[in-house]
Amino acid sequence: MRALVKDTAGPGLTLTERPEPRPGPSDVRIRVLRAGLCGTDLHIESWDDWAASTLKPPLIVGHEFFGEVVEVGEDVTSVKVGQRASGEGHVVCGECRNCRAGLRQMCIRTQSIGVNRDGAFADYVVIPASNVWVQPDDIDPDVGAVFDPFGNATHTTLMFPLVGEDVLITGAGPIGVMAAAIARHIGARYVVVTDVSDYRLGLAKAAGADLVLNVTDHGIAEAQRRLGMREGFDVGLEMSGNPAAVADLIANMNHGGRIAMLGLPKDPYPVDWGKIITHMLTIKGVYGREMYDTWYKMSAMLATSPVLMDAVRSVITHRFPAERWQEAFAAARSGECGKVVLDWS
Ligand SMILES: NC(=O)c1ccc[n+]([C@@H]2O[C@H](COP(=O)([O-])OP(=O)(O)OC[C@H]3O[C@@H](n4cnc5c(N)ncnc54)[C@H](O)[C@@H]3O)[C@@H](O)[C@H]2O)c1
Ligand SMILES: [Zn+2]
Ligand SMILES: [Zn+2]
Repeated sequence: MRALVKDTAGPGLTLTERPEPRPGPSDVRIRVLRAGLCGTDLHIESWDDWAASTLKPPLIVGHEFFGEVVEVGEDVTSVKVGQRASGEGHVVCGECRNCRAGLRQMCIRTQSIGVNRDGAFADYVVIPASNVWVQPDDIDPDVGAVFDPFGNATHTTLMFPLVGEDVLITGAGPIGVMAAAIARHIGARYVVVTDVSDYRLGLAKAAGADLVLNVTDHGIAEAQRRLGMREGFDVGLEMSGNPAAVADLIANMNHGGRIAMLGLPKDPYPVDWGKIITHMLTIKGVYGREMYDTWYKMSAMLATSPVLMDAVRSVITHRFPAERWQEAFAAARSGECGKVVLDWS
């Protein structure tokens, strides 16, 4: 089969032939139809410090995918051949305290598809049946491929009650844009999105943000001024990983405000703890998706809201056949894009 592989420790990837993977007794083999590019894949391709300290080549990369179930292990009863499916990229141990408590997203021994085990930039991927999210037969394959980041957006946006609240989202990457659409869907009052890219702020505006702000020119206080807000944001969703965005977010929260932190910083950085304490802020780290309540909620929200469905679809700005993966990576790196999807069909 075709597979996009990190062959050796160092920059680059190779599109090459690999043996088709076989499912174990509790696994499922999926014919990959679409796969989304994520920042993680860019880190792996360029072989930065994180990639060098985490990956053990050779490895097939990619973790955001949608496809068709073509084979199931002998013990699998929950999934059938022929079903369409997305995959949860975190494979959990099932035995640690959190797993046994039903908090699988907090597993202490999580393995990531396309990072710690072979991934989905290939004709076939094998995952545990418990990681399969069966999709409706008629779902748009591109939308199926973004359920992983849509799940990050959903998990983060639903972390705190948003109805009637003023919500600030820092970072208009694909996840920030989808978060804006979800916040609008749920019933926030103002949804404000910041970024340093006008292209990306355009996507956020189209997906339902009330106000988008390029923070190259203005601080977040400008958004409050334009909206006539006087007390600060009630809920913050940090989706940039940028320390300057975090500082400005903290400075613009109402007393008692709540912040969900999804964006991953490159390095440790200082924060104004005095402000967090005296403004009585709650800060919650968010990783992955709830397994599998987030998946349930994503599906339910999409099934009932054509507006949200259109907003999620609008995040996908570039599509490339798998053979043109280098162009796809270049597009993702350019920043002039939303989600970039590889077509493996
Ligand atoms: N915690 C998790 O489980 C998890 C999962 C997926 C992604 N992430 C992280 O979440 C973040 C969002 O993911 P994505 O795929 O949308 O990433 P992305 O890198 O495409 O988007 C980040 C955006 O932040 C913008 N930005 C940079 N500086 C900014 C600033 N000062 N103010 C506002 N915006 C600024 C960038 O221009 C970019 O558009 C990333 O940091 C990613 O690493 C975390
Ligand atoms: Zn991802
Ligand atoms: Zn576990």
